[in-house]
Amino acid sequence: MAPRKLKIAVVPGDGIGTEVMPFGVRCLKAAASVYGLDLEFEEFDFASCEYYLKHGDMMPKDWKDTLSQFDAIYFGAVGLPDVLPDHVTLWGSLLKFRREFDQYVNLRPCRLMPGVPSPLANKKAGDIDFWVVRENTEGEYSSIGGKIFEDTDREVVIQETVMTRVGVDRVLKYALDLANSRPKKHLTSATKSNGISITMPYWDARLQELQKAEAYSGLKIDKFHIDILTAWFVLRPEQFDVIVGSNLFGDILSDLGPACTGTIGIAPSANINPEGKFPSLFEPVHGSAPDIAGKGIANPVGMIWAGQMMLSHFGFSDAADGMLKAIENVLARQEATVVTPDMGGKSGTTETLGVAIEKEILSLA
Ligand code: NAI
Ligand code: MG
Repeated sequence: MAPRKLKIAVVPGDGIGTEVMPFGVRCLKAAASVYGLDLEFEEFDFASCEYYLKHGDMMPKDWKDTLSQFDAIYFGAVGLPDVLPDHVTLWGSLLKFRREFDQYVNLRPCRLMPGVPSPLANKKAGDIDFWVVRENTEGEYSSIGGKIFEDTDREVVIQETVMTRVGVDRVLKYALDLANSRPKKHLTSATKSNGISITMPYWDARLQELQKAEAYSGLKIDKFHIDILTAWFVLRPEQFDVIVGSNLFGDILSDLGPACTGTIGIAPSANINPEGKFPSLFEPVHGSAPDIAGKGIANPVGMIWAGQMMLSHFGFSDAADGMLKAIENVLARQEATVVTPDMGGKSGTTETLGVAIEKEILSLA
């Protein structure tokens, strides 16, 4: 059996990132002790505003060499707009990780948890359970383009969408494989080939080509234009299993999906380099939440669930299943003194909720 070992770089970042991270690490350690994993953690203070104020940069020059030694980066959140502009903090850290480590898959589960009310009417736990796979490196978010004749009547602005065969194929393949591994075996592709008449038909054609492989013969595959797809997310979320989209479409769907399942405080996300050439990054969807930072009331579930995704990504499915069950059990109980205010708790805090989940994981032993 392969060694059940991971080297994890812990990067808490700013604001509530530093408040929820300790509970993420504690829950991972609890899972490691119950399921016999060897998890090694090392914490770094860079990728934070505090680091910038001391050193004049978000990260040390050798950050890439340092983090390349790890299997995974466990990331909190970065940014304090009152201290530094968001483009400095984000481009100086998180976006460098995603790009330079070629984390071309952005993965988000959309799962309605017990005890968490959905903003959609009449949905109960289990009704919504799907994954959004977003292309994370190219597509609409390219730097090809420019401005000409600025401030004149002839002013022109152009930004090109870039789709490479390598880039499109590898994310589609990841999504096909993910769908294939799930009981429903259903993949939905987001397109807009009626309006975007060059790149989107290309995306569709590559999927059609790849899905011919024998391995995918048992898959149900469909595609929707992005506009109606967003409507179906709200009207019929039960119908989805795995959804794949380009960078822009995936960006929209990966916010809309988790929004349909309740508070932003519980949503996790992974930025994956599937070949493992570089470390993958696991983080909560939320940011540093300066409005509640320092109050001890940040919901730690997004951070803990991101840790669960890490274990699942590396194939430790027993431990990952256990962590998810523990999160669900605690949320299902909805104890007002345990859950945080964003979920309707009365005196619950980051600590009470984090510790309750840690205990629940340990009780699985
Ligand atoms: P945000 O996610 O930090 O906060 C949005 C709202 O949700 C706030 O009202 C906040 O209190 C609430 N919230 C977020 N996480 C919560 C949690 N765990 N528990 C309870 N309530 C929670 O987004 P915002 O305010 O737009 O951005 C704040 C800073 O975070 C900015 O500097 C932004 O650039 C950065 N940011 C960083 C991200 C990252 O590191 N991946 C992602 C999003 C924003
Ligand atoms: Mg987004």
